[in-house]
Amino acid sequence: MIIAVLKETAEYEKRVALSPEVVRQLVSDQIEILVEKNAGLASNFLDSSYQESGATIVSSKEELLSKTDILLSVQAPSQDDLSKLKSGAVLISFIWALQNPDLVTFLKEHKISSLGMDAIPRISRAQNMDALSSMSSIAGYKASLIAANELDKYFPMMMTAAGTIPPSKALILGAGVAGLQAIATCRKLGAVVEAFDVRPAVKEQVESLGAKFIEVELSDEETETKGGYAKELTEDDKLKQRELIHQHAKKSDIIITTALIPGRPAPLLITKEMVADMKPGSVIVDLAAENGGNCELTEAGTTQIVNEVKVVGPVNLPSQLANHASTLYAKNMLALLNLLLKDGKPNFDFEDEILLNTTITHNGEIISPMIK
Ligand code: NAI
Repeated sequence: MIIAVLKETAEYEKRVALSPEVVRQLVSDQIEILVEKNAGLASNFLDSSYQESGATIVSSKEELLSKTDILLSVQAPSQDDLSKLKSGAVLISFIWALQNPDLVTFLKEHKISSLGMDAIPRISRAQNMDALSSMSSIAGYKASLIAANELDKYFPMMMTAAGTIPPSKALILGAGVAGLQAIATCRKLGAVVEAFDVRPAVKEQVESLGAKFIEVELSDEETETKGGYAKELTEDDKLKQRELIHQHAKKSDIIITTALIPGRPAPLLITKEMVADMKPGSVIVDLAAENGGNCELTEAGTTQIVNEVKVVGPVNLPSQLANHASTLYAKNMLALLNLLLKDGKPNFDFEDEILLNTTITHNGEIISPMIK
């Protein structure tokens, strides 16, 4: 059984699918590992470290693709690369099947079995494979550091001989995995933190991190799906929510937005009128930038300065912490491989709800009920 790791080619992508540490564990299970030359360089994992862990470094991508039984990557490889795989080979990477129907059709037609790291169910048993959580947590942390860097104020209260500086005020919109990590990081840096989410269930988690939970009375009480994700609000409730956010935005020095609704564009939470009412020098870091943004003024990949407010639209934040992002992603991969492999071979047991939901294509068919 050969598992291969590709060097990522997407813009801004510095992560790699396996770390040398995880390679060592797979090799000890009698699995042969091929790593494309310099695949880990941007994450500061050198070819020599992979070799010391028992991997073979391969310079020719074609050779690597034609030999492998299971191909691992962070972003889905190009169709050109995938066409060089053996029929029946397995791909494990982020796939975002709903957003990439052409890729799913290609995988199906070429009889490539594919598992989407973004499709792992958010259940307790799958927590060690949950790459969305590992990456969101990094994004929330890094967003707080970007805010601290862009702000021309201290985060913590400072008592100096020249006088006392009050702490900065941070507002976090969306308290899922990224939002909770942003709350924790802003608190550690000393800011006073408030947070808002449409799911009332997160109130306790927000408060346990030392932040204040902002509440709004919504007419529709069902704001959460069975899977624990947010639902889109009614038009009435959207207005109520914006009114509330407006009041709090005026007093904030930092806003970090993380609100997402699966399968929908990111909800608009901060209008340009709200930005105009914010204090000069305030900073908005919009983690939903790649999904359309939670702020009306966000442009993905750039920083806008409007009415002296900085609106930062970062792209692929986990990649900015490439070493630890890859370390965690590799551990998530290992946990999924341990579930998939039986007696050293892939075993697609669709009685298992994790494998059923994570497998996008197998044997020329679409498997995941959600994608079907
Ligand atoms: P996400 O990235 O889809 O959304 C981020 C946050 O934005 C969510 O908390 C959502 O409620 C919030 N949001 C959406 N619309 C909003 C609006 N209009 N205003 C304010 N906030 C809004 O969520 P994430 O972080 O991926 O978590 C999704 C769910 O999965 C959560 O319930 C989380 O607790 C759960 N989860 C469960 C795990 C497990 O048990 N293994 C692991 C990780 C997450």
